[in-house]
Formats: sequence, structure tokens, C-alpha cells
Amino acid sequence: MRKIALNIIVITLLSFFLFSCSTNSQTNTDNEKKVAQAEIYNTKGYELLKTKCYICHFEKPDPDKADKMIAPPMMRIKEHYLPNYPNKEDFINAVVAIVKNPSEEKTLMPGAVKKFKLMPKLIYTDEELKLIAETIYNLDFGTAPKLRMLASDLQLNNGEKWIVKPETYAIIKEVDLKLSNFKSDNVADYNQLGKDVFDKAKYVLLDSSYTGELFNQLHIFFNGIENDMHALIAEKDLEKAKKTAKNLKIKIEDFYLIFKAE
Ligand code: HEC
Repeated sequence: MRKIALNIIVITLLSFFLFSCSTNSQTNTDNEKKVAQAEIYNTKGYELLKTKCYICHFEKPDPDKADKMIAPPMMRIKEHYLPNYPNKEDFINAVVAIVKNPSEEKTLMPGAVKKFKLMPKLIYTDEELKLIAETIYNLDFGTAPKLRMLASDLQLNNGEKWIVKPETYAIIKEVDLKLSNFKSDNVADYNQLGKDVFDKAKYVLLDSSYTGELFNQLHIFFNGIENDMHALIAEKDLEKAKKTAKNLKIKIEDFYLIFKAE
């Protein structure tokens, strides 16, 4: 059971750094964006986000409070949902749907599900949820470096490969083969390929029999390919998509260096 009720997190630091411009040109559009961003904090949607969601979710990752984290930061959630749902309406519908009915089938964050357990089903009205989801879509969460999970943290088990279940090995083989044989001149097919790879990969992370250091190593591995999967899902340029698929294939091959089937 989750012990969350007592842990009400008050967000006091309202992201001054959101406004530090990360692009190199300071154009009018940037200025307009800043104003719009500032206004978001006064909306009903943001108020709801704070009171209904930030009870459990931090807005952004906070390394000093990592041990108090009971759910992934909202910024990370957006990073997972936006590549899959770049269109505002689709994004809102997807967030509303998963919050109303959190499930392993539909999760885009298997690592978070494994770490924190599924988000509890809470009662919100559709109207509230839509406003909240829209706010998440509109809000510029800025960037924060990913912590710890570096590909260089991948390690053998005392010099031996980690042993995974044959099913897991088969999934990786299948993904590998799919990437090798994939040919298309339609970028939408590559986007779908990214989704298919992600859907396969997530079942490895959701597998409840993986725990401890073996799970950590699997998590690090999948974290290493996550950006490529997201990039492939969202890519609009065919040549770049082909390149990303190639990179993904190369990274998937690392699996065989660290893991083997039992
Ligand atoms: C009681 C704690 C709690 C509250 C309140 C809460 N969440 Fe969550 N949420 C979680 C946990 C834990 C996860 C990670 C596990 C998961 O993804 O199911 C999560 C994950 C998510 C995800 C990712 C789902 C996925 O798996 O792909 C979304 C989207 C989300 N929350 C949105 C919201 C929104 C919007 C609100 C406010 C309306 C909210 N959450 C309130 C605990 C909470």
C-alpha cells in the first residue's frame, strides 16, 4: 500500500529558471512565449494541477528531494507523452484517459510503474482533468539533466552476463530483427516502428520477476534507448528517422553484451 496521504508537498519554488531562455536568439516570439508562460501560473488549470497532482508529483526533478519522490516529476511525464501525442487534443485525451484509468497496458512509463507502482485511480471530473492536461501541454517545464542512469553504469554481474528469462531474450531478438529488416520511405511508418519497439520493451521492465540489481541493469539499458525511441516516434524527417532507427538497432545490440538467456 502507498503511504502518501501524509506527504503533502508544497511547491514554493516557482521556476524562475523556466524563463531563462535556452535558445540563442531572443526574438519577439520568445518574448510572447514568456508572457504566455507567466500567465499559465494564474490559470485555474495550474491551480488544479498544483492542488490535485502535485500532492504526489513534483513539477520538476529535484535531486535534493529524490528520496521523497513518490511519483515521477510532471516534467518527465510530459517528456514521455509529447513525442507520442504531439497534437494538443490527442495529448489531452491521452493524459485524461490514463489518469482516469491507470494501467500497465497503456502506460508510457513502465520504469515509473515498476518503481512507484501504478498511479492510484482517483476521482476527478472530466472538466478538471482536461484543464489540467491542457496546462501540462502548454507549460514549458524547461529541461533538467537526467540523473544517474548512464549507459556507462551498465555492468556485468561479477564479470558474468546477467541472466534473463528466455521470453525477455526473445523480445529483444524480435525487436532487433524488426529493426534490421525494416524498410520504408514513409516517416509515419518509422513513427509506428518507434511505438512498436517501445510497446515490446516495456513488458520487460514491467516484468515483476525482475528485482534488485538485475532490474536496475535492465532499467539502465532501457533508459539508454528511451531517447531514441521517443525521437523515432516523433520524427518528422524521413532521413533523420532512418538514422535514428539505425542508432537504435546498434544500441539494442549492446543487450547481448550484458545479458544472456537462462
Ligand atoms: C496519489 C499520488 C498521485 C496523484 C495525486 C497523482 N498521481 Fe500521477 N502518478 C502517480 C504515480 C505513482 C505514477 C507512476 C506510476 C504510473 O505511471 O502509473 C503516476 C504517473 C502519472 C502519469 C503517467 C502514466 C503512465 O504510466 O504513463 C500521468 C500522465 C500522471 N501521473 C498524471 C497525473 C495527473 C494529471 C494528476 C492530477 C490530476 C496526478 N497524476 C495525480 C501518483 C499520483
